[in-house]
Amino acid sequence: MPQYLFDNAAAQTGGRFSVLERCYDPVSQGQLELTGLAAGWRCLEVGGGSSSLGDWLGERVGPGGQVTVTDIEPRWAAGRERPAHVRLVRHDIVRDPLPGDGYDLVHARLVLQHLPERLHVLERLVEVLRPGGWLVLEEFDCGWTPVLAAPDETAAALFDRVHSALIGLLQEAGGDPLFARRMTGAMARAGLTRLAATTYAEAWPGGSAGIALHRHNSDQVADRLAAAGITNGDLDRFRALLQDPAFIVNSYPLLSVRGRRPLLEDLR
Ligand SMILES: C[S@@+](CC[C@H](N)C(=O)[O-])C[C@H]1O[C@@H](n2cnc3c(N)ncnc32)[C@H](O)[C@@H]1O
Repeated sequence: MPQYLFDNAAAQTGGRFSVLERCYDPVSQGQLELTGLAAGWRCLEVGGGSSSLGDWLGERVGPGGQVTVTDIEPRWAAGRERPAHVRLVRHDIVRDPLPGDGYDLVHARLVLQHLPERLHVLERLVEVLRPGGWLVLEEFDCGWTPVLAAPDETAAALFDRVHSALIGLLQEAGGDPLFARRMTGAMARAGLTRLAATTYAEAWPGGSAGIALHRHNSDQVADRLAAAGITNGDLDRFRALLQDPAFIVNSYPLLSVRGRRPLLEDLR
């Protein structure tokens, strides 16, 4: 069975989650607000990682609401304090019984693209919404990370080579690096309506907070990159490049798509 490439047991996980929180949480929060998120809502945060967004949802819905945060490996979320109306559960969204139903809002960021069963999971997420409830899915488009500036052409080629090898590993593990592009159509086929999509990207210069994501990811799978032909020397040069302010790469674009489960009267 293919296995999630960046499993949370690795030491690099904390670094990865802090980049995601710092660079993408404000974007995700803005997208979640667009659903009309309000006090008293019942929310499900799937594959919540550090639970930075799950905990933020808890603040937004207040004690009159409820948030369930799931993860197949919740150890990074378990250390954070949270109020009683925010529940953290160890849960596999592919195989375990559904974690409740009748949710006003279900959100998953950077989860489905890793799962070979992503379309089955999408159907499950729609199933747990109440009629009129919102699903917000967010994924990286891993096929558009152009180098925007580099000290020389060799450096740009090195980045592309190491990054392509990393994306190859993601595919070998059953991931779809371009699922973000297919997500809106998949959500429409799953029966969601009022679909809306936006894309967010920024430039990541060497040494910046965001570009460290490439360092955490490549360090975590260094052995497998070596098997894919990336030498230790390549990785050393790659790490140095990620610290060089003359090197600038586009961030992973985050596609955020929201869709609503139709109300019963919409179906008549
Ligand atoms: C790239 S991280 C994203 C974490 C968080 N959603 C964020 O955006 O900050 C993917 C998360 O999905 C979790 N995950 C992977 N497979 C899962 C599964 N089958 N069920 C639930 N969570 C899963 C991982 O443990 C990890 O925390």
